[in-house]
Parts: sequence; structure tokens; C-alpha cells
Amino acid sequence: MLRWFVTGSGGQLATAFTRVLEGEVFLSREDVLDIRDAEAVRAAVHAFAPDVLVHTAAYTDVDGAEADPETAEAINVAGTRNLVSAVRGTHTTLVYFSSDYVFDGAKGSPYVESDATNPLSVYGRTKLAGEDEVLSWVHGIVVRTSWLFSDTGRNFVKTILTAGRAKAAAGEPLTVVDDQVGSPTYAGHLAAAVDEALKQGVAPGLYHMAGGGYCSWCELAREIVQLAGIDVEVLPTTTAELGRPAPRPAFSALASERPVPRLPHWAAGVAEAVDRLIPLG
Ligand SMILES: NC(=O)c1ccc[n+]([C@@H]2O[C@H](COP(=O)([O-])OP(=O)(O)OC[C@H]3O[C@@H](n4cnc5c(N)ncnc54)[C@H](OP(=O)(O)O)[C@@H]3O)[C@@H](O)[C@H]2O)c1
Repeated sequence: MLRWFVTGSGGQLATAFTRVLEGEVFLSREDVLDIRDAEAVRAAVHAFAPDVLVHTAAYTDVDGAEADPETAEAINVAGTRNLVSAVRGTHTTLVYFSSDYVFDGAKGSPYVESDATNPLSVYGRTKLAGEDEVLSWVHGIVVRTSWLFSDTGRNFVKTILTAGRAKAAAGEPLTVVDDQVGSPTYAGHLAAAVDEALKQGVAPGLYHMAGGGYCSWCELAREIVQLAGIDVEVLPTTTAELGRPAPRPAFSALASERPVPRLPHWAAGVAEAVDRLIPLG
């Protein structure tokens, strides 16, 4: 039985991992282990001696990172470096999750692992720098994923269900950005595929693992309200109209040219998340 050390245990991806992992799992909660504390990280990792360190903890507030780049850097880059330092000299495999926001979105077709990076935002730059830290470890694995959602944590599916119901009750339409396209990824599908890749003995290195296909946020919102049976019109708007602080790639769908398990289509993930959320109201 493998020993798993999971960082960021309150997050949506960490929660998804706890549903699929078999063996002994150490969950590092933020109040127990702040990954910025190098000594605490070293002590916790050495005490547990994991076979696999699943590093999901991150500063994930894309707009917040523009206003507070120091914190984003401290968590996403230095925090990741602390984890890499803690496993040096061991046989621990370290799995890190990066983002489609390492790309600028200009390619116009799905990005594969060999494509050049060019992050537009502070968040994207810090996630890319974190990749370099992990790839400096001989047992380091970087998994780039995108547009994560689940039935737990803060995410787009839950936001649209809440906003969609409120707009439906008010008899108003919901407006959602239609000029950003990506690959929505159900956290449960990602956790299962990463678990499968590790069981298959995937080689260290860089992999793209995201929901199959791609769509815009507006198309994703329409799928969510339709599956949930919410009678609301979803109208398209533009990134410029929304005026968010962080620039985002216009087209950041991910595909893979490497031998890793493929995830189900994004719409299958939405159906599973909505199914789990609907009984909760
Ligand atoms: N969400 C996406 O759309 C997306 C897309 C591509 C890649 N990713 C990457 O996938 C990974 C998982 O994302 P997610 O959606 O599961 O994120 P999430 O739900 O925001 O979870 C991240 C977790 O990290 C914790 N954390 C933050 N700072 C920490 C620190 N200094 N020490 C320890 N823990 C800390 C957070 O705790 P608090 O909540 O208490 O701050 C939270 O529990 C991240 O690496 C992210 O960059 C996410």
C-alpha cells in the first residue's frame, strides 16, 4: 500500500484525491502545514515518509495575484521549492499541478506539452516557475490542467447554479463570457486519471491532463443550467466588458502528445458534478 502526502487538503482537487486514493493518506491542512514554512514542510514530509507527494496547494486567486504578486510567488514558487527540497535524497514522487494559464492563447488550437509557454498573468508566471522547481527533481511530475470544477470548494459550476437560480427567480438573463475557450476538467476525473498514471508507472516529466474537448465559459454555463433544469437565458458577454484585473488566454484548451490516461469529455464531468450537487439544493 502506498503512502500519500496531499498538500492543500481543503481544496477541490485535494478533496477529489481523497475519494480515489488507496493506502495511507496524510492530509496537510493549511493550519497545520503552511507550505511557505520550509522547516515545517521538511519535518512533516520526513516524519510521514510518503511514496507520493500530491501537491495541490496553491494561491489560485487569478485576479488577486495581480494585486498581491508577493503572496502568489511565496506560495506557488517558494512553497513548491520547499516541498522539492523536502523530498530531495528520498524516493518520493512529487506530483505538481500547473495551469493552462502558462500559455498566451494565441495558438488557436489545443496546446500540447511541447508548445512554447508565455503566461499573461502573475498567476500564470508563478505556476510556470513552480513547474521549473518540480522538474528539477528527478522524480518530479508536472500535470497541467485547466478550468477545474467539482462538487466541493469554490468553482464555476457552483457559482452558475447559484447565480442561475437567482436570475431565474428574478426573471432576468445570466451573462457569461463567450470569448475565452478552454477545457473544463472535473476534479474527480483528474484525480482518477493521475492515480491510474501513477499505477502504470508514468515517467517523470510534463503532462497535459484535462477534460476532453473544449468550450467557452458561456457554453459551459448553458450546459450547467440545462442539466440542472434551471429556466434561465444565458447570454454571451466579452472579456473586455467584464474588465477583470488579470488578463486571460483567449484559447487555452489542452491536449496531450504523451502517453498518459485520457480524461472523459468535459460534459461528462459537468453531468457528474451537477448530479452530486443537485440533491444538495
Ligand atoms: N482551479 C482551477 O481552475 C485550476 C486550473 C488549472 C490548474 N489548477 C491548479 O490545480 C491545483 C488545485 O487547484 P484547486 O482548484 O483544487 O485549488 P483550491 O480549491 O483553491 O485549493 C488550493 C488549496 O491550497 C491551500 N493553500 C493556499 N495557500 C496555502 C499555503 N500557503 N499552505 C498550504 N496550503 C495552502 C488553500 O487553502 P485556503 O483555501 O484555506 O487558502 C486550498 O485549500 C492548484 O495547483 C492550481 O494552481 C487549478
